[in-house]
Amino acid sequence: MKIIESIPEFRSLRQNLNGSVGFVPTMGYLHAGHIALVQEARNQNSTVIASIFVNPTQFGPNEDLESYPRDLEADTVALKTAGTDYVYYPTVEDIYPPTFDTYIEVGSVTEPLEGRKRPTHFRGVATVVTKLFNIVQPHRAYFGQKDGQQVIVIKKMVNDLNIPIEIITVPTVRESDGLAMSSRNSYLSERERNAATIIYRSLNEVQSLFKNGQRDAEKLRETMRNVLTSEPLAKIEYISVADTDTLNELSVVENNAIASLAVQIGKTHLIDNVLLIQ
Ligand code: PAF
Repeated sequence: MKIIESIPEFRSLRQNLNGSVGFVPTMGYLHAGHIALVQEARNQNSTVIASIFVNPTQFGPNEDLESYPRDLEADTVALKTAGTDYVYYPTVEDIYPPTFDTYIEVGSVTEPLEGRKRPTHFRGVATVVTKLFNIVQPHRAYFGQKDGQQVIVIKKMVNDLNIPIEIITVPTVRESDGLAMSSRNSYLSERERNAATIIYRSLNEVQSLFKNGQRDAEKLRETMRNVLTSEPLAKIEYISVADTDTLNELSVVENNAIASLAVQIGKTHLIDNVLLIQ
């Protein structure tokens, strides 16, 4: 496995690659969820490229950019073991030189849920993902279902801008008690970590209600809310049962839906979702 930092070096390497290229963009501090993306990319492509870049433009002014966990050494071991061929590890100056002044704004799917509290977040994600796509030029790119709105935003962008890359969504990888793997779980104290299990219990409950035939979206949301409020450490930020393409809130689930939630536990913002599939 080779680590490449400069854009010119990456471009010349890319020119010499034959066959399909699978790309896994990450912000590092990798966990089993990222490794599942690499494994899926490995199964489907001749070459697997991962990137590690903590993207400053997707963090708001009071967010955790400075304290975001980093561990390049452990990440390179994990990526190599999972079968990555190349790691693109750019500098902030390379991606955002002082003259940089172009951003990608995806429309209404960026507004609800995460977009409400973090109004510039998806502009940063869409911009960096477009730049990484242009540098890496993959055939397929892999994203985790855990960041459900991010997947919807990226699919919309790729479709609207005719970007010739297939977006593959990989199911959420969970700890044994159901907590979705996330780099931010490392912020949780032991007490908060225990409290965070309420997230999956709430999603499990909504999923079984749906399986039992409940299609009234407000009743589904109410169930999630009731479970979450039983945990005093979990401060609800949003609860949603929405269309899987537009993220419009539903009153009745006629087709499929995405049930999402965000809670604040201590200082940590945690998100998760499940798909409600007929
Ligand atoms: O999901 C992430 O880790 C990031 O949002 C991504 C897609 C790597 C863009 O910085």
